[in-house]
Amino acid sequence: MTDLTDLRLSYQKGELRRDRLNPDPHAQFQGWLEEALASDMPEPYAVTLATADDLGRPSARTVLLRGSEERGLVVYSNYHSHKGRDLSANPQAELLFYWPQLERQVRVYGRVERLDDAESTEYFHKRPRESQLAAHSSDPQSAPIASRAELEAKFAALEARFPEGQPVPKPEFWGGYLLTPAAWEFWQGRPNRMHDRFEYLPAAEGWRITRLMP
Ligand SMILES: Cc1cc2nc3c(=O)[nH]c(=O)nc-3n(C[C@H](O)[C@H](O)[C@H](O)COP(=O)(O)O)c2cc1C
Repeated sequence: MTDLTDLRLSYQKGELRRDRLNPDPHAQFQGWLEEALASDMPEPYAVTLATADDLGRPSARTVLLRGSEERGLVVYSNYHSHKGRDLSANPQAELLFYWPQLERQVRVYGRVERLDDAESTEYFHKRPRESQLAAHSSDPQSAPIASRAELEAKFAALEARFPEGQPVPKPEFWGGYLLTPAAWEFWQGRPNRMHDRFEYLPAAEGWRITRLMP
């Protein structure tokens, strides 16, 4: 059996001070995201999306962050997927970023809604053709499929249906989700597990910032 009990790092790369936090959590996030993008970390825009169904049963998976804007954070998926079904029943979700090179974690909780179709269509057409065909072939995402061969046959049939040079229409079951933040948490690892954590919650004006026990 692998013994994991002696594996640990001491986090030394930074500190997070109340007086240096941006009063606007999105601006704080944007600064950290830019630093993560400038590091040698692979895909710092890959993020865990946690959802729960109507019975509160949780599930989590990685998705790619495709928009970080004042109004919220944007990801794309298949609306028929496990996450899509969860979000239809219960629009509350959390996005979790872990940036080990910076010893940082960010949690963003909020309500999720579908982006309007025009916006999703615009992004769909920016994706490589193969990704567009894959979005068509992988539906309903998360449902069982008998074999790899069956999946590849679906892809080949779509390649024939939408010949090269002809635009691939966005499937109606595929599109964006916008998470409107209702709480943010910024975590910076510190030595001896004495980490810095700050939570932002909406206040009468702007956001109230609170240090949390590590
Ligand atoms: C690095 C990485 C990026 C991913 N990006 C996406 C994405 O942007 N959208 C998506 O639907 N699935 C993405 N996936 C696949 C999901 O993790 C997941 O397998 C899939 O969406 C089905 O999830 P569900 O059954 O919980 O709905 C990604 C997986 C990895 C590892």
